[in-house]
Formats: sequence, structure tokens, C-alpha cells
Amino acid sequence: MSIPRLASFDSTLAFFREGYDFVGNRCRETSSDAFRTRIMLRKVVCMRGADAARQFYDGEHFTRAGSMPPTTLRLLQDKGSVQQCDGAHHRARKAMFLGLLTGPAVDAIVQEFEVAWQDALPDWRARPSVVLHEEMQRLLCKAACAWAGIPLTGRELSRRTAEMAAMIDSAGAVSPKVLRALLLRRRSEAWARRAILRARAQEKNDAPVSVLAHHREPDGNLLDLDDAAVELLNLIRPTVAVARFITFAALALHEHPGAVQWLEEDPERRLTAFVHEVRRFYPFFPVIGGRVRQPFEWRGHYFVSDDWVLLGLYATNHDPALWGDPQAFRPARFYRREPSAFDLVPQGGGDHAEDHRCPGEWFTIALIGRALGLLQQATWGLPQQDLSIALDRFPTLPATGLVVVFARGRPSLLQLASADPSI
Ligand code: HEM
Repeated sequence: MSIPRLASFDSTLAFFREGYDFVGNRCRETSSDAFRTRIMLRKVVCMRGADAARQFYDGEHFTRAGSMPPTTLRLLQDKGSVQQCDGAHHRARKAMFLGLLTGPAVDAIVQEFEVAWQDALPDWRARPSVVLHEEMQRLLCKAACAWAGIPLTGRELSRRTAEMAAMIDSAGAVSPKVLRALLLRRRSEAWARRAILRARAQEKNDAPVSVLAHHREPDGNLLDLDDAAVELLNLIRPTVAVARFITFAALALHEHPGAVQWLEEDPERRLTAFVHEVRRFYPFFPVIGGRVRQPFEWRGHYFVSDDWVLLGLYATNHDPALWGDPQAFRPARFYRREPSAFDLVPQGGGDHAEDHRCPGEWFTIALIGRALGLLQQATWGLPQQDLSIALDRFPTLPATGLVVVFARGRPSLLQLASADPSI
């Protein structure tokens, strides 16, 4: 058994045209979990599934350095970040991230989010409608900065939110908006450097900005100022990105009343399953790139140093070998079955401490869960709008960003009434 090669010389156009579906489509056509092709003229092996994720996230064979287009790298994790580190250096930096983003920190970010939500609710009710994705970005930016120890309000909060939003929105784009996002990023970096310098001028305390500012690398030195600023942005920006999943969660409440009814019957035990299904079902990052660091053989194919590999995250989350009826929104699939480290991979797979799996997964799950609870306590509805989700835009969103009307009073029975037989 070896890995089939696609007949076409280069797949760049197909990748951008088919978007999230590209890897899954080709796996289906070739009856294989992996195939060889070129993207942007560079040879690549694309793969999907739990076995592929296990190989990709085994903690030793891949590096992220040189595995992403330069503008994507610059707008997301950036040079000097934990994602660009390998081996012992990566483990040491990652331990700091895991220390910041687990345990009591999860309750703390949710608390900040809830306070920001309650502050904003009267204003949402007073307005004819709001774009939920925009509101969530602002709320999450406010919550993340307060949690980090750099509280923001007013115009400064608006500026930082716009900068974070532009970085996320342009990460997968090939258009002039990338230039604007890069410019905005420079402002964010200057702000983050000032925050690190202020924290270094004070005694170390528990605030994340202070922990980061005083963190020492394995060689005993403080983080380089630019790298510390990059890592501060790597706490704030991805928290703002959770706005996309919250928007999708609200859409799920609207579009899958049967699933909502199922959730309502035992919310305490079923909420996590609902959140997992939101992260599995809706598209976020289509693929993650890796470059071979140490040669290995997989499926009869020899991978040598520098080979480029793309693991289909969306394709694995929709792999028919892993999920019954993968195109159906069915939270009950997670009720009695915990996801493994290699099947539900919207934020990467494997071991959080040993590999590049997202350390913000607990924040993400908790924030989506709390947003679902707050949405269900509110009275709201969706006016007529285009709810389609383009699959050729990375990362994507419902076309309108989800226009929502909030009203006073008790939760709408409309959200609860349903008989969706697929649940
Ligand atoms: C919208 C929700 C999120 C998604 C879809 C997401 C997705 C991802 C993915 C796919 C990776 C890369 C894994 C790899 O290289 O193999 C990653 C890494 C990372 N994420 Fe997230 N993430 C999210 C939220 C967060 C949050 C809330 C934080 C922090 C507050 C965070 C911080 C990071 C960091 C620091 C890394 C680099 C880890 C490493 O290289 O070891 N992310 N994320």
C-alpha cells in the first residue's frame, strides 16, 4: 500500500475553490486517507483521520517551522512563538502556556466574559439588532485583556478588537486585506510590548501579563521583548477567535431545535457534548501544516526531512470512518463517548504538553458552553438573513455574521420547541 498521487499537476485552485471540503473530497475520490499533490507548486502529502493525526501528533517527527504561508504565520502565531519551537525548548515554553490556561484560569476567563455580557445586554436590547459575531469579538477582547491584567475600555478596546479581528479574518486570505491586517498587527505589537515593559517594571505577580513578562527561557534569560509581545498576542487574539464558535453555537440553537430540546432535558450533563459537536461540525481551520523533522515510513511511503504535510482538521472532523452521518449536527454522539486525542481535532490533536495541540482548548470549551447558557437565558431571535457559510473562505462565518434581535423577557419558547428526529 502506498499513497496515491493526484492526476492533476497542482491542486492550488481546487484547494481554494473547494476549501474546507478539498481534503475530504480527494480522500473519497482516491479511496485513501492520504494523497500526494502539489499546492502552490510545492509537493505535499495531505492526510486525514485518527491514524494520520496519531502520526502527525507523535511529538517528534514534525516541526511547524516552514510549514505555513508567511502571511498566515505572521498574522497568527508568528516567528518567535511557542508554535515555532521544537523539542525541549517547545516543552518548556508550552508548560508556561498550560500553566496560564488551565485550572482556575478557566473559571476566571468565563467570569470576565459573563461580566462583559451582562454589561452589554441592556445595550443589545435597546438596539433594533446586533451582529452577534462583532459583539462577541468585542466582549472576548474585553474579557481576555481584563483576565490578562491589562483591562481596556472605550476607544482602546475598540482599537484592539479591530486589530485582533483583522488578524483572524485575514489569516487565510490572499487579497489586499492581508496588508491592512499586517499594518494593524504592528499596532497591536507595539501595544503588547508596552504592556510587557510595564509589567517588567513591577514585581512579578499572578496576572498573565506579569507571568509572561517575567518568564525565563531554559537558558535563564527573560524572553526577548518582541517574543514576549508575540506570546501576549497569542493569548488575546485566539480568545477573540472563540467568537466564531459562539456565533456558530447560536446558529446551532436556531437551526437544530431537536438538539436544543435534547440539551434542555439534562443541560448539566449534556452541555459539553453540545459544545464538542459545535467544534466538530462547524468549520474553523481547514488544515494544519507540518514539515518533516525526522524521517519515517507511513502507509508504505517514506517521508524524508523537509517533506511538507497537511493534516485535514475539518476532513478528520468529518471523516465517515470516525463519525456516523458526519454531515449531521448530532451532539448525542458525544454523550457517552469522550473524544479521543486523535479524532476530534478542531484545535489539533495528541498531547497538549508534548506537541502543538492548542493549549486554549479548555478556554474555548468553557466559553462556548457559558455563551450557550447565557443565550438560552435571553430572549432573542434571528430576522430573515443569509445564513449560508462559505466553504472557500478561511476562517469562515455565516454570511451576515449572524444578525440577532435581543428583546426583554423570558427565553423564547421557539428556541425550545422542536422534534428533530435526527437526535
Ligand atoms: C477558536 C478557538 C481556537 C481554535 C480553532 C484554535 C486552533 C488551534 C490550532 C489548530 C492550533 C495549532 C496546532 C498545531 O500546530 O498543530 C492551535 C495552537 C495554539 N493555540 Fe489555539 N485555537 C483556539 C483557541 C485558542 C485560545 C483560546 C488560546 C489561548 C488563549 C490559544 C492559543 C494557542 C497557542 C499558544 C497555540 C500554539 C501551541 C503550540 O504550538 O504548542 N488557542 N490552536
